[in-house]
Amino acid sequence: MQASEAEKPRIVILISGNGSNMQAIAEAVHNKEIDAEIAGIISNRPLAEGLTKAQAMGLHTDIIDHTLYASRDEFDHALIRMIEDLKPDLVVLAGFMRILTADFTRYFEGNLLNIHPSLLPKYQGLNTHQRALDAGDSEHGVTVHFVTEELDGGPNAIQAILPILDIDNAKALQQRIQVQEHIIYPIAVKWFCEGRLSMEGQHAFLDGQELPASGVQLRS
Ligand code: GAR
Repeated sequence: MQASEAEKPRIVILISGNGSNMQAIAEAVHNKEIDAEIAGIISNRPLAEGLTKAQAMGLHTDIIDHTLYASRDEFDHALIRMIEDLKPDLVVLAGFMRILTADFTRYFEGNLLNIHPSLLPKYQGLNTHQRALDAGDSEHGVTVHFVTEELDGGPNAIQAILPILDIDNAKALQQRIQVQEHIIYPIAVKWFCEGRLSMEGQHAFLDGQELPASGVQLRS
């Protein structure tokens, strides 16, 4: 039996920019590939392109402009209240370009996912594609992971891995990686919403089995 609308897991997605990962997840929900409800999209940037995309899909949107808050703490506490108003079961960071306080990450721990464009734990932080090229790596990729206090450090759920080609530059690599992002983020969200993916004691579990540190790996 299908869960009624009221019983579906509620997803809140946080964005700062383009919102293509938000769109991929929202489309998967719309197409019933993920049995969930998008409770709302929150942007810290009033002009984020993702807001227009979300509105075009008929989704509820909220803006919380970080520049209007005196401190990171004040912003994060206001953000927690805004998210809580949407009664989420899962909070998804999709290109949300703010460093979050420990108060925030602890509040949602176990129910908070992020996508990061590298094969974590490699290349935490910014400019990941250029750093992989500069290091002469033969592979690069993207990771969906649970968020903990440690920046880009929580347990991995799933990674997509791509070979780096001789002709690659950062832009080309970023574009190929984004195609993979739009595949693996909906998969991770689907697993979570089905109760298959969880975090316990700083480890990720899928179907009751502890995942390896890399998470599930998809290779192209
Ligand atoms: C994505 O490529 C995501 O991997 C990256 O921001 C982009 C957002 O794109 N996230 C980070 O760098 C987090 N450290 P989108 O707004 O089109 O989804």
